[in-house]
Amino acid sequence: MAEYNMTPVSVPQINTKYRTIKTAIPVPESLPVFEKLKKSEPRSMMGQPPVLWHKAEDFTVSDKWGNRWIDWSSCVLVSNIGHAHPEVLTALRQIIDQGLLSTYVFVHEQRAELTELLQSMAPDPSDYHVFLLSTGSEATENCIKLAKTYAMEKYGAERRYIITFKNAFHGRTLGAQLAGGNPNQKKWLATPDPSFVQVPFPDGYKNQDVSFDLFLKSLADAKIEPHQIAGVMTESYQGVGPDFMPVEYAQALEAFCRKNDIVLVFDEVQAGFGRTGKMFCFQHYGVTPDLIACGKGISSSLPISAVIGRKDLMGLYAPGSMTSTHSGSPLCVAAAVANLKVIRREKLDERAARMGDILVPELERIRALYPDRLGCMHGKGLVAGIQVVKPGTREPDSDTALDINAKCLQKGLLMFAPVGIGGECLKIAPPLTIAEDALREGISVFEEAVNEALGG
Ligand SMILES: Cc1ncc(COP(=O)(O)O)c(C=O)c1O
Repeated sequence: MAEYNMTPVSVPQINTKYRTIKTAIPVPESLPVFEKLKKSEPRSMMGQPPVLWHKAEDFTVSDKWGNRWIDWSSCVLVSNIGHAHPEVLTALRQIIDQGLLSTYVFVHEQRAELTELLQSMAPDPSDYHVFLLSTGSEATENCIKLAKTYAMEKYGAERRYIITFKNAFHGRTLGAQLAGGNPNQKKWLATPDPSFVQVPFPDGYKNQDVSFDLFLKSLADAKIEPHQIAGVMTESYQGVGPDFMPVEYAQALEAFCRKNDIVLVFDEVQAGFGRTGKMFCFQHYGVTPDLIACGKGISSSLPISAVIGRKDLMGLYAPGSMTSTHSGSPLCVAAAVANLKVIRREKLDERAARMGDILVPELERIRALYPDRLGCMHGKGLVAGIQVVKPGTREPDSDTALDINAKCLQKGLLMFAPVGIGGECLKIAPPLTIAEDALREGISVFEEAVNEALGG
């Protein structure tokens, strides 16, 4: 996989309302920190554009040397209400002043406020409960466990399969990786658990058969009967694209799960809390998940995640037997409460939809300038991706994707490193608060970088 150049390069200086570039990139003075980390960390922690983050405010990120970027990363789809939102900062200061930093699962007031808030966002609040955790992986793991527990208790061990999708990502812990659909991430599982099975995702580009028949055929080919399936889990959109399901497919999937009493899980860790123009992405499909895994944008900042799920499933474990040391950690909870209130009050889901109406057609216009190199563009609300391919093929071109991404960095537009199965996807995910003129400025910088990489 291609890597960022760590040798400082002199680049044209930039000074606009939102972007400032006044040094070589990467900044020479930042390199000792990268060197220190190289000595004390696994190399897996490197791989992002070489910026030494010093301050991140709303939709910009700054370093110590006066450079400032428009942020198209939101960290990695975390900062939905923008970085360091004043209401999150105030909520954190209040908890610090109150003197409550850790509680295990002893009760504190803000925890009840958060579970109630999240419950009110459930498809039918009276039928759903909320379980707080710390990371997205913990949330998806918990969904797997609840689906399997429900099936085992009600039907016995034969109902054991968890069906997920090829190219899916649900986190990096064992269960989440068993459920994931990227073969490269599963190599370490020398003997994968055969009860985890992946079927093609109907993305319409990498897999052009978007019919639900392919789901049924894939199960039949694997000799799996519906009564053997405990749960089906899917990202609401697949992060590698972002790839969305056709509405008819999602509804057919829901009907299949209902008919066979299979637990339907939507992983909203990346898609939730307004990102796609609705509070949850599954709402675009008109379906009702049994379990919803949440993370990232739940706090726009500190590490907290949640499972919002059908009461009967959430009640499967006795008091004290489904917990985690940092479930409901006070600072994280306070950040999440403040964050959710901002999303609701400012209607940031609706704002994301409006900004998406600018972003998505503009990206499609840029894609159409180089149709044999920019294979496809998918997007909804304030998440989008363009897949860079080798000329006239659908083969990933990770070198060119990285080149475009690095050029954006030099011009004051920050994106996280390309994603996708082959590192080919330039993913765009600004905070939902991004000002319209900053969004448009980012689009023109992106177009400039694409032209420099592909034009002429
Ligand atoms: C869809 C999805 N599920 C789960 C996870 C895992 O979340 P975390 O990294 O917080 O464990 C991610 C993280 O990128 C994700 O995008």
